[in-house]
Amino acid sequence: MHKSTMMLIGSALALSFTAGAAVADNEAGEAVFKKCKACHSTEAGKKKVGPSLYGVVGRTPGTLDGYKYSASMIEYGATGVTWDAATLDAYLTKPRDVVAKTKMSFAGLKKEADRQAVIAYMDGLDDGHHDD
Ligand code: HEC
Repeated sequence: MHKSTMMLIGSALALSFTAGAAVADNEAGEAVFKKCKACHSTEAGKKKVGPSLYGVVGRTPGTLDGYKYSASMIEYGATGVTWDAATLDAYLTKPRDVVAKTKMSFAGLKKEADRQAVIAYMDGLDDGHHDD
């Protein structure tokens, strides 16, 4: 594919995410999420090694009731950030660059397209309605 075409597709994806478009049928995101499944449930409130990711988009980091986060994650949330396209993209690129002592032992997703797909997938879990 031509490089400028790739860039166009890339910005179209970014735009549709910013607009908060609910991605009902996000197969790419579901495929990427297989890397997260061992540690994360998509069911509301169900914890595994990691917290449930249901409703995570729009949530303050480290605040799901009943899950014991690292002190580092709680401190990150206390800085006033929210999990959104930008903060999730940075965390999923390299978790320890954003939350220095996070207990999420995951190397990160190198491909931007993978990160965008999985973020859209998580955003779609609650059909765009956030818990908070
Ligand atoms: C080896 C287990 C493991 C894998 C694999 C993993 N995570 Fe995590 N994740 C965790 C743990 C543990 C935490 C809690 C981190 C903390 O408290 O520092 C976490 C926290 C998170 C958070 C913050 C949630 C919150 O409530 O603030 C997000 C978002 C997240 N993970 C997304 C992902 C995504 C997306 C993937 C796959 C691409 C993934 N994780 C893969 C274990 C994992």
